[in-house]
Amino acid sequence: MRIFSGIRPTGEIHIGNYLGAIKNWIALQEKNECVFSIVDLHAMTTPYLPQELQKNIMEVTKVYLAAGLNPEKCIFFVQSQIKEHTELSWLLSTVTPIGDLQRMTQFKEKSVKHKRDVNAGLLNYPILMAADILLYGTDLVPVGKDQKQHVELAREIARRFNKKFGKTFKEPEVLLPKTGAKIMSLQNPEKKMSKTDNPQGCIELLDKPDAIRKKIMTAVTDPGKEIKYDVSQKPGISNLLTIYSLFSGISTTDIEKEFEGKGYQTFKEKLSQLLIEKLEPFRRKKKELELRQTLLEKILEEGRKRAQIIAQETMKKVRKKMGLLK
Ligand code: TYM
Repeated sequence: MRIFSGIRPTGEIHIGNYLGAIKNWIALQEKNECVFSIVDLHAMTTPYLPQELQKNIMEVTKVYLAAGLNPEKCIFFVQSQIKEHTELSWLLSTVTPIGDLQRMTQFKEKSVKHKRDVNAGLLNYPILMAADILLYGTDLVPVGKDQKQHVELAREIARRFNKKFGKTFKEPEVLLPKTGAKIMSLQNPEKKMSKTDNPQGCIELLDKPDAIRKKIMTAVTDPGKEIKYDVSQKPGISNLLTIYSLFSGISTTDIEKEFEGKGYQTFKEKLSQLLIEKLEPFRRKKKELELRQTLLEKILEEGRKRAQIIAQETMKKVRKKMGLLK
């Protein structure tokens, strides 16, 4: 199976990104042809600081590697370094109805959030994402729930293109994790955990023990004191139970039993300890990578070369099908 996925280099990577996407990628790279990208062009659709983008790209590179992405087992590269992404994005825009873009939930939400900067890039975001996916003949796209709609649109774009110009692209499918596809904010369990959310609601993979403890101990819980998985009645505790379960490998039912009659405080203390312990290797490995700038550059360059071969091959076919000169 060919797998493609990406992450924007905007700020720190949090446990939602990890549990919803990266953890899955690490497992998939063992038995599949995986292509993973740092999608810097997508990061430019909302306000950002140019002087920080390069640094963020390198930060994400280190976190990816610290989390277990193995460049010997997957292709790992920076999106903007392969020009075919933007080229295909333009070509695909000619088969994408504007209405499909306007009904995207992320576009609607971000247009409200960034009222003063609703740029065309924000609207066209899913086309570039479709280009990312389709360039590599992707079968499966492992993402969190918030990106499901975009992957479905990529599938629709592939279908339209094939219908109009003849079979060219595979129709990719979304791959969501069974649990953890939507980790919620610790401060507002009705909202997904997000990089731009209240920082107290978001645990970063590289958070220090004190920060982890503070965020978990102040996480919003629900009335009552029972540790019970019940998303509609107890969204706060259910979210913490999901996090506990995914980091410990213990089922939520067994965790409920373990904490029967013990109350929120004890549960939160145990969860803090668990996270501190499980996130320690990320911090350690990331620190080791701080000193390996040359290695990081080499990995990205290697990834760029390998990705480009596939991307150029696809573009040759696409240009021909669409009637462009060689
Ligand atoms: P981004 O950078 O917002 O997020 C990266 C991945 O993390 C997942 N995720 C979550 N999963 C569970 N709970 C959460 N709270 C949570 N927050 C984020 C996202 O679903 C995503 O899988 N558009 C994409 C990047 C992209 C891409 C692509 C993905 C660009 N091109 C092609 C797949 C294929 C994005 O902004 O992800």
